[in-house]
Amino acid sequence: MSHSKFPGFMANKPHIAAQLTGHEREGLVQRMFSSIAHRYDLNNTILSFGFHHHWKWVACQVVSEAHPNNVIDIGAGTCDLSLMLARKFPVTCQIMAVDLNEEMLEVGVEKIRAAACEDRIHCCRGNAESLGFQSNVFDVAMAGFCIRNVGQLDIALQEIYRVIKPGGQFICLEFSRPTTRWLRSLYDWYSLRILPWVGTLVAADQTAVYRYLPLSIREFPDQDALAGRMRRAGFNTVDYQNLSGGIVAIHRAVK
Ligand SMILES: C[S@@+](CC[C@H](N)C(=O)[O-])C[C@H]1O[C@@H](n2cnc3c(N)ncnc32)[C@H](O)[C@@H]1O
Repeated sequence: MSHSKFPGFMANKPHIAAQLTGHEREGLVQRMFSSIAHRYDLNNTILSFGFHHHWKWVACQVVSEAHPNNVIDIGAGTCDLSLMLARKFPVTCQIMAVDLNEEMLEVGVEKIRAAACEDRIHCCRGNAESLGFQSNVFDVAMAGFCIRNVGQLDIALQEIYRVIKPGGQFICLEFSRPTTRWLRSLYDWYSLRILPWVGTLVAADQTAVYRYLPLSIREFPDQDALAGRMRRAGFNTVDYQNLSGGIVAIHRAVK
């Protein structure tokens, strides 16, 4: 996939990427993910000190409690969430793993093959803002660290709402706002000073994606604001749980 329309000098301004919306943001963000796809999993584990496995585990638990027959994993990336749900949880559902980024999905397809899960997890390229599925078809939509990156958050939330069956759920795992001042300070120091440096080194990245990451988290609505945006998209019940002191939150929105 080519993102040549977004030259390198723009990607080296991560604060611009974090503040952009629409197609410009989408293009820049995709260029960044293409650049790090093969080191994405390793960096996740290093930069989160392994915590991302726990966060994904709790999200899968919430999904499995809904006893879904089918699940759409939006912004599936390298398919970590889909694989964890299919392999480690007592669910027999079919999983549609959708992502805009070919390079990330290619890594995911390899992992699915290695785990012999091709009969359960199906990958396709698609945009969260225009998923291309019929309305009211999925029992559960889940998204891990995706919706912070979309070009138009409200459009994506409306689209996710559209494809879920009435009574179905959207389980959204996303970075959020630490709830105590001391944790916020520690997290700010780590995510602004240490994380970009380590992430860039490990991924041999030249697109500034690991400088964009903490900035995008700060630009993103906090727990209550995101719940409000979900309600505005049509979901009638929205609740959330904080993980790791609010560094991450899992929102559960019911259609
Ligand atoms: C931080 S990664 C998360 C990957 C995976 N869900 C995980 O938890 O490890 C975010 C993913 O969202 C995808 N993404 C961003 N905007 C998207 C959009 N509009 N539609 C579909 N996927 C999108 C990116 O391509 C990327 O693979």
